[in-house]
Amino acid sequence: MEKKNIDWSNLGFGYIETEKRFVSNYKNGAWDEGALVSDSMITMSECAGVLQYAQTCFEGMKAYTTEDGRIVTFRPDLNAARMEDSCKRLQMPVFPQDKFIEAVSKVVEANEAYVPPYGSGATLYIRPYMFGSSPVIGVKPADEYQFRIFATPVGPYFKGGVKPLTIRVSDFDRAAPNGTGHIKAGLNYAMSLYPIVTAHEEGYDENMYLDPKTRTKVEETGGANFLFITKDGKVVTPKSSSILPSITRRSLMQVAKDYLGLEVEEREVYLDELENFAECGLCGTAAVISPVGKVVDHGKEICFPSGMNDMGPVTKKLYDTLTGIQMGRIEAPEGWIHVIK
Ligand code: PLP
Ligand code: COI
Repeated sequence: MEKKNIDWSNLGFGYIETEKRFVSNYKNGAWDEGALVSDSMITMSECAGVLQYAQTCFEGMKAYTTEDGRIVTFRPDLNAARMEDSCKRLQMPVFPQDKFIEAVSKVVEANEAYVPPYGSGATLYIRPYMFGSSPVIGVKPADEYQFRIFATPVGPYFKGGVKPLTIRVSDFDRAAPNGTGHIKAGLNYAMSLYPIVTAHEEGYDENMYLDPKTRTKVEETGGANFLFITKDGKVVTPKSSSILPSITRRSLMQVAKDYLGLEVEEREVYLDELENFAECGLCGTAAVISPVGKVVDHGKEICFPSGMNDMGPVTKKLYDTLTGIQMGRIEAPEGWIHVIK
């Protein structure tokens, strides 16, 4: 299989059209068989549910080339399960979890020429998504849906790779207390566009969102969960019902405990305790683990002792172990690695 002529090591996190995508349509209460297609364009009603009332959700996952040349995905069953949760909350039909995993494999295989080589620093990002495609004008769920998966090769999510990030505490909320923060609804990301654009304009890399009810506790950023390391080496992550249950974060907590022998804690994390932590990182499929050097709360700077030059030592161990598992250098827990070929 000849790879595409792409400068893998200099890829950013952008969209490059690949050859095949999976499409399945839901009509008259049932999903069709679905197929791989070449056309990347979508035609639908001007009154489609997704266009009028944002009835859409998505997933994000990656395919990796391992050290021994296999192509694998990481815990795709958890993406399939989370997409089911998202669909149920948005009154969308569930795409069967086994078919979801099968379709992901088909898309990766069909675009093998775009799967970045081992050691290039790039991966194939996979984007499953679903939307209401039939007309709705009264506020109600659509009758027809499309489920699609495309793939695109990507590099690091944050420019500068592993340079520690500067994050500001946002005045906006990303979720409501009993809203949709825990699912991967497109609307959660639409609301984050104004805060992220203004954050970038003001020189920050990302926003830290607080709990929408009391605005005293740390939630997450627009696209990643937080991990903190205490001065005595414990791994702490915020517990909240309005953050997205990151698959990367759940995996890292297990890696910390079982591979690194660290104590782990999922609990409420108050903004005013941030200065006690030794390290901070963002974790997610796109973010992997990106170190945070500084959080700025309305002019007050909270600088982590790990500094602005390097990833903190515990964060680095977590990063090395997780990516080692994903790239096949370290033995994975049972069921974590799904071999495509
Ligand atoms: N939080 C948000 C809001 C996200 O969009 C993502 C990305 O999927 C994550 C966290 C990280 O989740 P995961 O590790 O499952 O990619
Ligand atoms: C992912 O990490 O897969 C996401 O969906 C986050 C998004 C901000 C790119």
